[in-house]
Amino acid sequence: MTASAPDKETTGILFVCLGNICRSPLAEAALRQIADAASMDLVIDSAGTAGWHADKAPDPRACVEAARRGVNISGYRARQVVPADFDRFDMIFALDRQNFADLQSMSPAHGRASLSLLLDLVPGFEGHDVADPYYGDAEDFARTWSEVSQAAHALVARLRSGRG
Ligand code: 4NP
Repeated sequence: MTASAPDKETTGILFVCLGNICRSPLAEAALRQIADAASMDLVIDSAGTAGWHADKAPDPRACVEAARRGVNISGYRARQVVPADFDRFDMIFALDRQNFADLQSMSPAHGRASLSLLLDLVPGFEGHDVADPYYGDAEDFARTWSEVSQAAHALVARLRSGRG
């Protein structure tokens, strides 16, 4: 999805998976929901390391899962991550280790953003991937939601405590 650039006071968070149609839009939706509930003002966006699905809506199964959890993501549109994202955002979270490696290899030398693996936020799941549900079924998408929302809760708690 395309978001406006964060200003100096507003923390900008970017989630990155491969296609930006399954996992990272769900991470974006979960964080939006949790940040809204916490009245936390964040700029939240998502992107893919690949551009195959650019300008496309999320996978219908991701839309169904988000709707089940109370978020309408049908208006999100995929985009490919670009090196400038490292200057636009404060924190970039890779959904899996391959995404992390791809992001690391494109990151500029003096970018503003920190780069981390998303599940490093969740105690006991450090170093784990959010598994790709693209070739899976509704149960896999439900598991994706569960994982990304645990990470989003942990991130909001961290930002609230000033450990950003
Ligand atoms: P995502 O899932 O990275 O979670 O959006 C995928 C979406 C599309 C493809 C692979 C993974 N694909 O091969 O087109």
